[in-house]
Amino acid sequence: MSEFKIFNTSSYPLKELDNNSIDAIATDPPYGISYQNNYWDKDLPKREIWENSFRVLKPGAFAVVFSSIRLMHRLMVDLEDSGFTIKDVLFWSYLNGMPKSRDVALDIDKELGVNSKVVGKYNYVQGYKKDGATNYYAGKEKLKYEPASELGIKYKGAGLGLKPAYEPIILIQKPIEKGLNVAQNIIKYGVGALNFEETRIPYANGETKVGHNPHPKGRVPANIIRTESHNDGYDKFFLVPKVRQKKEDFNSHPTLKPVELMFHLVKLISFENQTILDPFMGSGSTGLACLKLKRKFIGYELDKDYFSIAERRLTIEKNKLDNSLF
Ligand SMILES: C[S@@+](CC[C@H](N)C(=O)[O-])C[C@H]1O[C@@H](n2cnc3c(N)ncnc32)[C@H](O)[C@@H]1O
Repeated sequence: MSEFKIFNTSSYPLKELDNNSIDAIATDPPYGISYQNNYWDKDLPKREIWENSFRVLKPGAFAVVFSSIRLMHRLMVDLEDSGFTIKDVLFWSYLNGMPKSRDVALDIDKELGVNSKVVGKYNYVQGYKKDGATNYYAGKEKLKYEPASELGIKYKGAGLGLKPAYEPIILIQKPIEKGLNVAQNIIKYGVGALNFEETRIPYANGETKVGHNPHPKGRVPANIIRTESHNDGYDKFFLVPKVRQKKEDFNSHPTLKPVELMFHLVKLISFENQTILDPFMGSGSTGLACLKLKRKFIGYELDKDYFSIAERRLTIEKNKLDNSLF
């Protein structure tokens, strides 16, 4: 039977959970960058949540925590100061990130009181229609400008930010129990090693041998996860496409993560029948992956509407899975 327990309260105290009771954490917390002006993304979570995450995890347990590039360092310090060992930073890399920038040259014209030159018109489009990626919302016609001042012309084309092409995912571990080695820790707590058997990257078609003793299931997963093949012959990385917002009718969460990505991460840090916690579950993508992978799920979400979306998604999935058993 698929199992989940979810709470519509702040996760910070994690008071419903016992010490050393959770096998792994997979979470996508607020990034603290006011993404799309979301009220819950103004600050990074308080350190209290990481201290309590440390308390409830079993010794040797792993966690994956999504982060923004800009504030990853602060989050990592919080995690380390809460007792975790930083093991790695996975890169979820993609090609379709949009640079956040503005035309500095036109701003220079404005500051200098020079009228920029109108050189044409263009159709401004933003977002997709739900029924197909090629079906754009009707665009708005806008004027196209070029700088006219001497300094503006010098700075033509200059920008403020690079095209974002990855999201970091911090891999951490609660240290194994003092006095035990990894094997003894696994015997006592059932955690302490990553699950490569379920996450190996299959060899490319026709590729027969890699290394001296090739594993039949493929390579050990790398710390890069891509959204699509980068045309470099074959792909040694796990591929997960990005999801469009509002892909599912009733799911309006603005920072929805693909369930396939959560699949890979949940498999990597846990084994069947273990219990996974997501203290910032949003619309429940981690939970869906857990149910499909025969892991138990515990989730927290403070926002009432997001909580209802997660509850609905998880209930539909649980019914589907439970019915398929009969
Ligand atoms: C980045 S979103 C997670 C989105 C999720 N990965 C998904 O696929 O839907 C972070 C979530 O944390 C929630 N949140 C913020 N502070 C919280 C708190 N103290 N306790 C529980 N949830 C919180 C926000 O409401 C938001 O939905």
